[in-house]
Amino acid sequence: MVTLLENPLRLGLTQERTPEPLILVIFGASGDLTQRKLVPALYHLKRERRLPAEITIVGVARRPWSHDYFREQMREGVEQFSDGIGSEELWKDFAEGLFYCSGDIDNPESYQKLKTFLNELDGMRGTRGNRVFYLSVSPNFFPEAIRQLGGAELLSDPTKTRLVIEKPFGRDLGSAKFLNRVVQQVCKENQIYRIDHYLGKETVQNLLVFRFANAIFEPLWNRQFVDHVQITVAETVGVEDRAGYYETSGALRDMVQNHLMQLFCLTAMEPPNALDADSIRTEKLKVLQGTHLADVRNLEHSAIRGQYSAGWMKGNPVPGYRQEPGVDPNSTTPTYVAMKLLIDNWRWKGVPFYMRTGKRLPKKVSEIAIQFREVPYLIFQSAAQQASPNVLTLRIQPNEGISLRFEVKTPGITLRTRPVDMDFSYGSTFGKTSGDAYDRLLLDCMLGDATLFTRADEVEEAWRVVSPALNAWDAPADPATIPQYEAGTWEPAEAELLLERDGRRWRRL
Ligand code: BG6
Repeated sequence: MVTLLENPLRLGLTQERTPEPLILVIFGASGDLTQRKLVPALYHLKRERRLPAEITIVGVARRPWSHDYFREQMREGVEQFSDGIGSEELWKDFAEGLFYCSGDIDNPESYQKLKTFLNELDGMRGTRGNRVFYLSVSPNFFPEAIRQLGGAELLSDPTKTRLVIEKPFGRDLGSAKFLNRVVQQVCKENQIYRIDHYLGKETVQNLLVFRFANAIFEPLWNRQFVDHVQITVAETVGVEDRAGYYETSGALRDMVQNHLMQLFCLTAMEPPNALDADSIRTEKLKVLQGTHLADVRNLEHSAIRGQYSAGWMKGNPVPGYRQEPGVDPNSTTPTYVAMKLLIDNWRWKGVPFYMRTGKRLPKKVSEIAIQFREVPYLIFQSAAQQASPNVLTLRIQPNEGISLRFEVKTPGITLRTRPVDMDFSYGSTFGKTSGDAYDRLLLDCMLGDATLFTRADEVEEAWRVVSPALNAWDAPADPATIPQYEAGTWEPAEAELLLERDGRRWRRL
């Protein structure tokens, strides 16, 4: 049997290899993501000598930029959003591989122009016809861009071309199925890389190693020992300048269907038979297939939405969601979602998985907390009220690490117990924090390793799980009925009730 440790080249741990010479074409190159994340990540990979010398990046967008202007914009991005340029010589070398090609998403001529340009670049840069097309445009344009790429035969060679699609992949089950059909008409599934940047986070990948490279946790990882699981992704930021996107999305589409569902899958899935992309993705799919909202008939018993109202963050007043620029003053878009999920399988039957995410919460923190059952009978009667259950916490960010809470006797003659934490921290153990998720994901798709990307059926299944809430919340509602929470505080009262009804409480983080 091949174990994870014997086979370190899998699991996206492939970065010792260098991709083939290629051209990465970024659609939406004048946008925020390219400047803040993609190009800084590529430059970081270049610094780390992970990229081939021939690496070539072509930005595509409507604006009539020159190559030099594009290079300046990208330099600003690297300076502002990463460790900086470092050596001028290195930047010069990198910038020589940066090009810009203006074009319209819906104009076939733009794709012909791009095709000609890419062929010229092959000659100049030695990129041998290898291409990765990265769609970082507004999701409304995905189908059109994909059809046009297909029409121009830019994706017709499955051995040399790949397509990366940013999230969100669809806005519900129907549109995700439609998008899958569109993309499968022009590409094979193994050419398609659906991004969920949470899968690029070191701590998220470590979930598999933690679960399947250690013998002592897996036997406890089931309904016999686990009372419930809490998954939290809390943010302090508000909607920022993204009202246009966020108003049509909201926390369920923006965070739950993708990032939280991925954390959920990796926590709940069965061990895969092997560590290749399909074995892992098949196990994630299986767990999603068995998952449903706890009580679909009484939605408030399994899904709660909320919206932040005006409040205080770090001592400063901040507006409520409905007062943010660009937001409808009667908006019903959720900025907070809490859910109770159940899984119908032998491992998890009856164990609730509670998840919550929200903007303008008091703290930026993402974690998975496995709360174990209480001891069956407490012999320390006098200390009974102090005994708390064991909790294993996987801290995704910040302060990345893992801790295990257990009860100890406090020193002294009187018998008292107290919970303490046994703690592992990435920072103090490895002396450095992990790189950005985009470094890993960009490198993996250039290498052709799809393990950390989501498959068509998995994305659809994740939409199916959240559909009852999505359908109910998409229906017109009286704005007065949307539960509010003050910015800078934890969940609305309705979300507290979700757990209180089960005799449980959200963790205070
Ligand atoms: C993005 C969402 O996918 O993830 C944002 O669109 C959110 O709304 C972000 O802020 C959170 O990512 P991270 O890596 O900061 O947890």
